[in-house]
Amino acid sequence: MLEGKDGHAAQKSMEILCALGEIYGAKRLIEVASVQVAGVSYHNLGDAGLEFLRELARDGHARVVTTLNPAGMDLENWRNLGISEDFARKQHEVIAAFTAMGIIPSCSCTPYLAGNLPAKGEHVAWSESSAVCFANSVLGARTNREGGPSALAAALTGKTPEYGMHLDENRKAQVTVKVKAKLETNADFGAMGWCIGQKIKNKIPFIIGVKHASVDQLKSFSASIATYGGTALFHLKGITPERTLKPNEEITITPEDIQIAFTALNEEETDVDFVAVGCPHASIKEIRKIAELLDGKKVVAELWIATARQTKLLADQMGYSKTIEVAGGKFACDTCMAVAPLKGRFKVLATDSAKGCYYGRGSNSFKTRFGSLEDCINSAVSGKWKQ
Ligand code: F3S
Repeated sequence: MLEGKDGHAAQKSMEILCALGEIYGAKRLIEVASVQVAGVSYHNLGDAGLEFLRELARDGHARVVTTLNPAGMDLENWRNLGISEDFARKQHEVIAAFTAMGIIPSCSCTPYLAGNLPAKGEHVAWSESSAVCFANSVLGARTNREGGPSALAAALTGKTPEYGMHLDENRKAQVTVKVKAKLETNADFGAMGWCIGQKIKNKIPFIIGVKHASVDQLKSFSASIATYGGTALFHLKGITPERTLKPNEEITITPEDIQIAFTALNEEETDVDFVAVGCPHASIKEIRKIAELLDGKKVVAELWIATARQTKLLADQMGYSKTIEVAGGKFACDTCMAVAPLKGRFKVLATDSAKGCYYGRGSNSFKTRFGSLEDCINSAVSGKWKQ
């Protein structure tokens, strides 16, 4: 491949992978079972990124199942979300380049809910920090935090350099985290991710004291700890599949720590004009709950539910979408509030995602309100954050 015998795209990809392997001291390349590619929004790629994709799409093809992260808009209902014609045209060109390479335009940050579900011990090459953390920790798969280009290179060759999270010795816990707080909602798990992330920064935690966690809570936690701690792997005693020894270094998370997280992620604003849930992308269980909360009501704030298109199709079949849309809520399939061009359109974001607060503030300069899914849907109906 490096010599160009498999074409230009494979050669270019192999150059990227060999350079990475040399930087990180990898001894060899290994085969990957699947790939998740980030860097899909035209908002982030721009014309230079689009040109790079077009170049690879001339003769590149994905050698393993490859899925995509969210794009900058709902690929069908973009007008409904206030996206311009120009942006939509470019975004469709980006998707066309990916699909020409045989990449599945799932456009979701929860590939594990959308058919790309690796088994324990499988090597994959995923980008998207929340999905990487979920794959390593909850599924026990093995992936580094790939960037968009290195993930794409893995897709076009079927290989990745063996270093970092692919090796046993780099997957051991480094700090014990004792959780003494009671966690109930997905937002509580997001707040815990904020606390632990801030305290341990880049170390692998062995978390004890959490008795139960649902998939939705684990996806919320993965997104938060990856955002605030740079974490690519955590071990949760009794819940995640890999065994690890209990490290001597120890920290404790108290109810007061969780409260500090809620205070840090909430600003003083009472009027809410934008509510975004589904970060990471909403599961069918979350959408069902939203439909229950909105049944017979009307929203006054702009409400976006970000999810994968195939999850939305299930919601359509079950009538959840209709209930939500009659109430005035909007689905943002294929996209999310962090990668859509939203700057200047809203002032105060309410969300149940700790990660969403980070990007709402950083990328779009929104003030943020952070609470449970119920708090968020109630604020979409009243236009006010709970008093
Ligand atoms: Fe997913 Fe966007 Fe949140 S990519 S994790 S919905 S910021």
